[in-house]
Amino acid sequence: MAINIKVNGRDWPVSADPDTPLLYVLMNELELKGPRFGCGLAQCGSCSVLADGVEIRSCQTVVSDVGARAITTLEGLPELYAKQKGLATVPAMHPLSQAFVDEQAMHCGYCYNGQTVKAAELLAKTPHPTEAQIRAHMDGHICRCGSYPRIMKSIQTAAAAIVKEG
Ligand code: FES
Ligand code: FES
Repeated sequence: MAINIKVNGRDWPVSADPDTPLLYVLMNELELKGPRFGCGLAQCGSCSVLADGVEIRSCQTVVSDVGARAITTLEGLPELYAKQKGLATVPAMHPLSQAFVDEQAMHCGYCYNGQTVKAAELLAKTPHPTEAQIRAHMDGHICRCGSYPRIMKSIQTAAAAIVKEG
């Protein structure tokens, strides 16, 4: 049976086998550059995407399990943010992406996708997170460059910007 998935607001027919990891479909068929292959074992978070706003590890989610859930990748975060905030126009960058740039949080950048997607999940539900809440929420998202303090600062900066924006 043909599989269709909804990614970043568009319907996509999938030609890969049903048991193909969602990550491979996103990278190879949709040619998205956000989600990354890291461990392939659901342990690092570099492949994370949102499914109906909830973070999942796309390396360990077979494409046939996606079902009707709306997938948002790093590329779709600005549009999702505009929808969540009722903005008339879609910003060029999600506030988290802007904050990661402003705080120079990335070294190699490999973990950027997962860190941003996971933090976006948090800020959509908890606009004023404490440091402890951020720490707990981001647990399991590995940064092999050890940029954790700047990632923390970026999330706090983005949270402040979002609250200010209203
Ligand atoms: S590549 Fe999916 S969690 Fe590491
Ligand atoms: S910036 Fe290199 S893995 Fe996080």
